[in-house]
Amino acid sequence: MPLDQARPVAAPGSPLPGITRRAALAPGVKLAVRNLTMRYGNGHTALRNLDLSVHAGEVVVVLGSNGSGKSTFMKCVVGLNRPTAGSVEVAGRDLVALSGEGLRQARLPLALISQNANLVKRRSVLANVCCGTLGRHRTLATALGRVPRNEIEPAQACLNEVGLLHLAGQRAGTLSGGQAQRVAVARALAQRPHVLLADEPLASLDPEAADEVMRLLRRLATEDGLAVVCVLHQPQLAMRYADRLVGLRRGQLEFDQPASEVSAEQIASLYVGEAS
Ligand SMILES: Nc1ncnc2c1ncn2[C@@H]1O[C@H](COP(=O)(O)OP(=O)(O)OP(=O)(O)O)[C@@H](O)[C@H]1O
Ligand SMILES: [Mg+2]
Repeated sequence: MPLDQARPVAAPGSPLPGITRRAALAPGVKLAVRNLTMRYGNGHTALRNLDLSVHAGEVVVVLGSNGSGKSTFMKCVVGLNRPTAGSVEVAGRDLVALSGEGLRQARLPLALISQNANLVKRRSVLANVCCGTLGRHRTLATALGRVPRNEIEPAQACLNEVGLLHLAGQRAGTLSGGQAQRVAVARALAQRPHVLLADEPLASLDPEAADEVMRLLRRLATEDGLAVVCVLHQPQLAMRYADRLVGLRRGQLEFDQPASEVSAEQIASLYVGEAS
């Protein structure tokens, strides 16, 4: 079925018949990064010997000044950057050691949300969410942008999870920034990830919309067991929603502690003299 013709099977706002929520993920470490080092081609070392583990149900917020290596870290984890050294273990497999189809498969439990929602504006909200399922299917039809019929209801369930099922048929280009970012979260959920990575997902959002997205990420961790790693430039939101705070300075780990134990001085020290 062409994606733009996919329509909700339930009336807007009502529960979806026959769709049960996903079972929470099993507890345990979902992402284990060890000794991660990234030196770019120009000789700049953006990450040095970084260690980080994230468990099911945890929200870890990464803080650091501009240029401290946060996006480099996220890109190394999802395989957009090939680290110079170290390992990135997801479901017990080291992504750094893999390539080609093996890497593609091993990456499936990871979903990345970026600063901009990057929706296809002229397509429906539901069609955009369905795109999240395409990684699991490799056929000519999916290459042409069609999704298997049995993926449409799960995509609707993902939209329901972010509270936007009633907008399923709307063109993505008409959404507000906050709605677009929540659709991006729904698209990431359609991948059925175990690890949700978000690189400055609040960048273009007003305070209320930002809070809403953080509440959503928190709930996905607490209720569904996702391991959430989120880069933020808002320490107050980080304190409110994160289990753990990770501070990066010049590509190195400054701290990795429970949010309740991180002091304002520790956070301030990440930004002092670091404007770039
Ligand atoms: N492709 C690249 N080639 C060379 N250097 C790079 C490349 N990408 C990033 N860098 C450098 O690596 C450092 C870390 O960049 P990164 O984008 O990870 O920072 P960041 O912490 O995400 O910053 P921001 O808060 O501004 O998004 C910066 O000094 C940047 O200039
Ligand atoms: Mg960045």
